[in-house]
Amino acid sequence: MSVLRRIEDNVGYVEIDNPPVNAINQAVRQGLLEAVDWAEAAMLTRVIVTGKGRTFAAGADAKEFDAAPMEPHLPDVLNAIDESFVPWIAAINGVALGGGAEIAMACRMRIASPQAALGLPEVTLGVIPGAGGTLRLPRLVGLETALALITGGKPMNAHAALDAHWIHAVDDDPIEAAYMVNTEELGCMVPTWELPSPAIDTELFEATEKTVARKMPQQVAPIVAINCIREGLNRDFHDALTDERAAFLSLKSGPQAKALRHCFFNERAAKAPASLSAAPLPLEHIAVVGGGTMGAGIAYALLNKHYAVTLIETDDAAVKGATERVENLINASNTRGLITDAEAIACRQRFNASDEYTQAAGASLAIEAAFEDMAVKRDVLTQLEAVLDDSAILSTNTSYLNINEMADCLKDPSRLMGLHFFAPAHIMKLLEIVRGEHTSDTALATGYALAKTLRKIPVLAGVCDGFIGNRLLARYREAADTVFMDGSTPWEVDEAMVEFGYAMGPYEAQDLSGLDIAFANRRRQDATRDPNRRYIPIADRMIELGKLGRKTGAGWYRYPDGKNKIEDPIVADLALEEAHFAGVTRTEYSADEIRRRLVLAMINEAADILDEGIAQSASDIDLVTVNGYGFPRWRGGLMHYADSLGAEAIVSQLQQLETEDPVAWKVSPWLLRCAESDASIADQ
Ligand code: 3HC
Repeated sequence: MSVLRRIEDNVGYVEIDNPPVNAINQAVRQGLLEAVDWAEAAMLTRVIVTGKGRTFAAGADAKEFDAAPMEPHLPDVLNAIDESFVPWIAAINGVALGGGAEIAMACRMRIASPQAALGLPEVTLGVIPGAGGTLRLPRLVGLETALALITGGKPMNAHAALDAHWIHAVDDDPIEAAYMVNTEELGCMVPTWELPSPAIDTELFEATEKTVARKMPQQVAPIVAINCIREGLNRDFHDALTDERAAFLSLKSGPQAKALRHCFFNERAAKAPASLSAAPLPLEHIAVVGGGTMGAGIAYALLNKHYAVTLIETDDAAVKGATERVENLINASNTRGLITDAEAIACRQRFNASDEYTQAAGASLAIEAAFEDMAVKRDVLTQLEAVLDDSAILSTNTSYLNINEMADCLKDPSRLMGLHFFAPAHIMKLLEIVRGEHTSDTALATGYALAKTLRKIPVLAGVCDGFIGNRLLARYREAADTVFMDGSTPWEVDEAMVEFGYAMGPYEAQDLSGLDIAFANRRRQDATRDPNRRYIPIADRMIELGKLGRKTGAGWYRYPDGKNKIEDPIVADLALEEAHFAGVTRTEYSADEIRRRLVLAMINEAADILDEGIAQSASDIDLVTVNGYGFPRWRGGLMHYADSLGAEAIVSQLQQLETEDPVAWKVSPWLLRCAESDASIADQ
């Protein structure tokens, strides 16, 4: 049963029952429609609709979006509720999102519990509210709030929704409160569709369009949503509803919605593999070694999820610095209202910093976030092993180093795994869990359990230089540097990639992280680099010139005021010079060509990563690229995008590039196999 119903005192109680989140599928729609007829036939005085469990309804069932729409359609069901002579009241027991909020809006009244939230997050799935949301919401809350809610997609808590006149009351027991509503008062309530629509406000629409263009560039759904809201004002409700529905259906089967759905379900499927044979270790006390930006961010992320944290640093001064960094993060979150005063105090109480490893004793997990150097990391792990229980798990936050070599220093190397966080660690969603040659299932299961508590997206990676994400990044940068050396400027490369959908291009991004990190990596790789691989020396020249990025006021760009970037002709000249010495005849690359090369380079590298078993699936590559490296979410991730190009087309383009440089562009055998078997890249 997807919709439960019963009658008591001539009042109908309708409960949406489709666990886990009461997504509105065909059966729920059918059940609601039947409930309208049932209530009318029984001449009920009112119907109180609520959701079973913690959720009111999480919106239309997005799993149905790939198939043809099935009757009854949600707009028709909601019209039936809105137009029924039996008034419906929504008792909003938990989140009411998308179609869930639209059900509530079709009711004559809305009463929410204090824990409830309402939202129209459809644009985050690449669609618009498709069951009257763009029409009913402005009639209830006014144009400005409706535009912000529908284009932003963020939910509103119950009290804010009350202030915005979205709902009529907040009550600990919304069902009882709905029962108690005075019959006369209820009788005076006008059906939402009959409420007058707000007046057109051209300036407000223009301002919203500008905000959307800035915050969600190239995304279609928010623009379509704005149009639907505009077209729905001062117009016949049912005509406008037909147009809204058509726009929804067209977006639903478009490439952006498919990509965003892929991301949504991919993220929810990121869970511990069923093949893990061990249970996670219970965690209460966690040690973090190293209190720099990364270590402090990790420590705060842990404190925020109620773990006790001991942070180990090298000496008094370093302990003081690390403590300050953690304190700053607690304060910043508190000031922004993300944690209450009491939670901030509790975070401080759970935190301890010291330069004595013995303080870490009793921790069941240690996360090493020290300087990126093999000897330093091995020393840290040895010291941890000496003070922690034999059962405790050890982990390293290394971005590139070989975990097997690190584990060598331990008596029991199975205790060690990689937990690769991304900066800022308390914000970024991705967590690469790196499985070393000896890593135990207990360690991995513990990593996954930690990711779940921290609400991070875990992706399992094997050992190689840079694991999944940084290895892809290295190839991306190499392709960018080659294009730069052979004909472009960093700003042309950056602009091309911003047009592709990145928030910033590779050069601006590297100015933020610092050119010295990549330099240290290049020196580390000197001994093992394939001598036949072309080496682009421009970045080394930048180091010689002291251009390390924003922190030195100049990197690939200059930052005269410390904030805004300007192009630097000296940097462009470096490429001319180096190309001259290397005997390169420079070519002009179009933006399309730059994009083609950088993206193909990453796809080919990703294919090798899959071929070597470093990543488990193409979907994992998508999770990494979207959640850790700024690949445009609305393109679904690197391999989802690759699938839209097709393996055969990719291989033929790579083969053409291979004639230019057979080492850098060597076509991955994995891609060749995909092309030969006509297999979908995304399904691998
Ligand atoms: N459709 C299908 N499945 C959904 C779903 C939806 N709208 N929302 C959640 N689910 C599934 C998830 O895939 C997950 O499945 P799994 O257990 O098999 O992995 C399960 O429900 C639980 O979801 P979460 O892991 O996300 O649970 P949380 O408790 O962390 O979050 C939530 C719950 C806040 C409801 C969150 O799931 C969410 O934000 N859902 C999407 C809401 C949304 O975007 N709604 C709009 C849909 S489009 C629409 O309504 C169009 C309409 O206007 C016509």
